[in-house]
Amino acid sequence: MIKVAVMGFGTIGSGVVEVLSINRESIAKRVGDTIDVKYVLDLRDFEGHPIQKKIVHDYRTIVEDKEVSIVVETMGGVEPAYTFVKAMLEAGKHVTTSNKALVAEKGAELLEIAKAHQVNFQFEASVGGGIPIIRPLKNCLTADVIEEITGIINGTTNYMLTEMSEKGVDFDDVLKDAQAKGYAEKDPTADVEGYDAGRKIAILTSLVAGQQVDFEDIHTEGISHITSTDIKYAKSMGRAIKLLATSKHVGDGYAAMVAPFLLNPEHPLFSVNGVFNAIFVKGNVLGDAMFYGSGAGKLPTASAVVADIVEMAKHMDKHIPIEWRREKLELIDYKDFDNRFFVRVNESEETVKAVFGEVEFVKAEGVTGEVGFVTAVMPESEFETRTAKLAVIQKIRVK
Ligand code: HSE
Repeated sequence: MIKVAVMGFGTIGSGVVEVLSINRESIAKRVGDTIDVKYVLDLRDFEGHPIQKKIVHDYRTIVEDKEVSIVVETMGGVEPAYTFVKAMLEAGKHVTTSNKALVAEKGAELLEIAKAHQVNFQFEASVGGGIPIIRPLKNCLTADVIEEITGIINGTTNYMLTEMSEKGVDFDDVLKDAQAKGYAEKDPTADVEGYDAGRKIAILTSLVAGQQVDFEDIHTEGISHITSTDIKYAKSMGRAIKLLATSKHVGDGYAAMVAPFLLNPEHPLFSVNGVFNAIFVKGNVLGDAMFYGSGAGKLPTASAVVADIVEMAKHMDKHIPIEWRREKLELIDYKDFDNRFFVRVNESEETVKAVFGEVEFVKAEGVTGEVGFVTAVMPESEFETRTAKLAVIQKIRVK
């Protein structure tokens, strides 16, 4: 029997215990042994709850118990998760986590510690919830040079943009609705300002590049400035606004960005709606591949965590190498990148033409007193210089 400890009995941690119970037999067949939860670490006592008898409050109880060979971290945040996970790896225990903040900041270091102690540190659930993306990148797409990863990797913002588009409602109203439904947190900053997607694309880029990409270096724009008027323009262009996290291999370097984009209906991510996530991967020999599914939520995310448990249980005495060096990768400056932009300005069409030359003007139903247009493709730096001369209301990149 393989003994497991779960650190953090919140949504995902309780989901992990549930999945291990619902699929106990099929998991045991795959592993060749049963998986048993011995401890659950939490600050709370869960008085009267069936989990109560397994609750411990001190992580050292787990560290010191040699019977526990696999530890699940579903607490969230960098500390104390980092201290606990480090101690577990140093004690020779395998660890899986769903915690993107921890992986984005400390992934390379924790992988080094895991290697030194010949155990595994896995984090499939940290990006794309239940969608398998990390294992495919590490284990399957190994014949390819990955040229691009572009994804909708935040369910909260995708739900909000979908609702804004379908119901014509404004950001503040849709945020309240998302909070009421449990899709957005009380403090929604990490999701709506794009930081959550930034951490996730930093993890994916680090794995592709094999070295540390700091999420703080990624140019990040969220969706809190998107209005119902922008949605009207998007509709009149037959496009959809999506928050994309994108990472490209350019020459010897990598460029990454999180920002809202206007997608045309032919784009593979155009029809990804609601809380769903999708990640588009382009390999130099594979071509295009898409990974689509539930990017968040209790059981989908727990499914990915438990898949890591199964993987580690099958490789109990083997360290599975994951290349992710601590040496920091300097990203290419996003300002060197070429993009097309949809722009709304408080100017005349003549002024716009004087600044940008020939552009495509766009009208939206019921919108007056401003001018909307789409530029030619140009470097971000050139776009910034040109728009500095205009009274800009909004700018959204166009794919
Ligand atoms: N708020 C996140 C999302 C949770 O919606 O994608 C999963 O990381």
